[in-house]
Amino acid sequence: MVKVDLSGAKPFFTAAGPDYAAAAAAYKTFAEKTGLGADFTGWEGMPQRIKDTELDAIVAAAEKIRSRSQALVAIGIGGSYLGAKGAIELLKPNPGPGDPKVFFMGNTLSVDAINDTIAALGDMDFDVNVISKSGTTLEPAVSFRIFRELLIKKYGDKADDHIFATTDARRGVLKGLADKNGWTSFVVPDDVGGRFSVLSAVGLLPMAVAGIDVRRVIDAAIAEFKALDVGGPENPAWQYAAARQHLYGKGYTVEILGCYEPSFRFMAEWWKQLYGESEGKDHKGIFPASVEFTADLHSMGQYIQQGPRMLMESIVRFTESRTSFPFPVEEEDADGLNYLAGRDLSEICRVAADAVREAHVSGGVPNIVIEIPKRDEEGFAAMVCFFELACSISGYMSQVNPFDQPGVEAYKKNMFRMLGKPGAK
Ligand code: PA5
Repeated sequence: MVKVDLSGAKPFFTAAGPDYAAAAAAYKTFAEKTGLGADFTGWEGMPQRIKDTELDAIVAAAEKIRSRSQALVAIGIGGSYLGAKGAIELLKPNPGPGDPKVFFMGNTLSVDAINDTIAALGDMDFDVNVISKSGTTLEPAVSFRIFRELLIKKYGDKADDHIFATTDARRGVLKGLADKNGWTSFVVPDDVGGRFSVLSAVGLLPMAVAGIDVRRVIDAAIAEFKALDVGGPENPAWQYAAARQHLYGKGYTVEILGCYEPSFRFMAEWWKQLYGESEGKDHKGIFPASVEFTADLHSMGQYIQQGPRMLMESIVRFTESRTSFPFPVEEEDADGLNYLAGRDLSEICRVAADAVREAHVSGGVPNIVIEIPKRDEEGFAAMVCFFELACSISGYMSQVNPFDQPGVEAYKKNMFRMLGKPGAK
């Protein structure tokens, strides 16, 4: 289970501390489905639902792709992309032998990025997983038309067998196309919004193709949501939500999520969408940013240590490293590093993290540690469940609907008008 350590944030709390009564009320609103957007809270029960319904079919589809293709082009944007990308980078940063390469498309309109991916695909055998809940989002639709044409060129009348669609059960252009062409299809449940959908087929199919054990992910998520179903301040999701809202009330308006694992980078992108899109409304919301340590200590470290004091810092730490590496001793000690010799690199990294924490706290940056047991399927699942639940509690604590995103329509309206879409104003 995820653990939260607030000792580096406590010096910045008022005497009363985080408002656990407000966290309790927000949790009740969430659990009893009485709040804004309650129709979109189905993600909490989704791991069990998926296990009972689609999981076997997802694994079977992934096995089919793995057995015949060297690549999967996963086409999606926002919540239909970041979770799978984050999971694959975190758990499978280097594809193993026999693991297809997963290319992510549909998250850009850059002609160069699309052409680069086509070039990288070369003459590989590939499949396409097009992922869009609405089935109408422009970026994935543009990519899908292009990669579908490539499939038709390559496989002729067998192309439809290489397309896997993940979309709404009933509505949308993509659903219509999938039905018409007989594509293998998976569902984004009605009661689950895009950024909360990583534990559905949206995330699970690309993850399984990449060689992640999604059955382990789902079993761990079922267990984690159960463990998080605790009504009290001992609940780590309450602790995190209440602490960040308390700090926000004291003027800490930017939260930087950091981690000492470079493979975490895209999980931070997933987290930014989850929190930014859920909380940034009604002219309120903590601005979610991210850093990768120790690399960014040499770029952003100065600002964090001595810039304006509106930053709070949440650090994801994996208790156990996957591997070990005892630092070698060198007889001459020409580089002067023998004081580290014999210690494991994981220990050196842990000490560096403690040192950074001490410096940042004394420099005026509240620090929250989110501890995940290991960088594996269980750790990933636990982290997703924790962040999703905490996000909902935090959103309700700040009196917004954490499950909608009305603001993202503004640019789309302009774009469609400027591109001359029929009927666009
Ligand atoms: O969280 C959300 O709902 C959004 O970020 C969507 O995931 C994103 O806009 C993509 O939408 P769709 O899956 O409908 O193409």
